[in-house]
Amino acid sequence: MSNTAIIYGSTTGNTENVANQLAGLLNADLFDASTKPTEALIKYDNLILGTSTWGAGDLQDDWEDFISEIDNANLSEKVVGLFGLGDGCNNGDTFVGGMAQIYNVVKDSDCKIVGSVDIESYEFEESDAVVDGKFIGLALDEENQGDLSEERINKWVEQISKELK
Ligand SMILES: Cc1cc2nc3c(=O)[nH]c(=O)nc-3n(C[C@H](O)[C@H](O)[C@H](O)COP(=O)(O)O)c2cc1C
Repeated sequence: MSNTAIIYGSTTGNTENVANQLAGLLNADLFDASTKPTEALIKYDNLILGTSTWGAGDLQDDWEDFISEIDNANLSEKVVGLFGLGDGCNNGDTFVGGMAQIYNVVKDSDCKIVGSVDIESYEFEESDAVVDGKFIGLALDEENQGDLSEERINKWVEQISKELK
């Protein structure tokens, strides 16, 4: 068994694609939030949590149903990485807000959150997922900057690999 679980929520498949790529690169086990993988929150030392953003800065639907399990889980000793997909042009003022929704739930647990990302190369206006001038995890924009995704993913994997258990 891998030491790393990736849990993702995806409506049209973009986040699922990224989750698959990350699973290959990190040698991680993959879970769809729609299956409510509560066991994974206990069994794995490293949790990589990914969501797209819907509505106006909202969590992806499957995460809406699963986020309370994250809230109830004991995340102390866990290493947590976040990734979020969004559209920085059509939804530029709520860019990757879903990732911020997960962050707001995990940040007060005793987990170690890894993988913050510089905002410089992104096109957006506002994002709740920017804390202290950086994205709190890996932000990706398949609609407008899809050509940058592979490079961003590879760089992020290299960055967090040093911090995973
Ligand atoms: C109705 C609708 C609302 C959206 N709202 C947001 C938003 O508030 N912020 C954002 O960054 N992206 C928003 N998006 C863009 C999606 O998050 C983006 O297309 C994402 O890649 C979808 O990933 P998925 O296929 O994994 O669900 C929205 C898209 C649609 C169609």
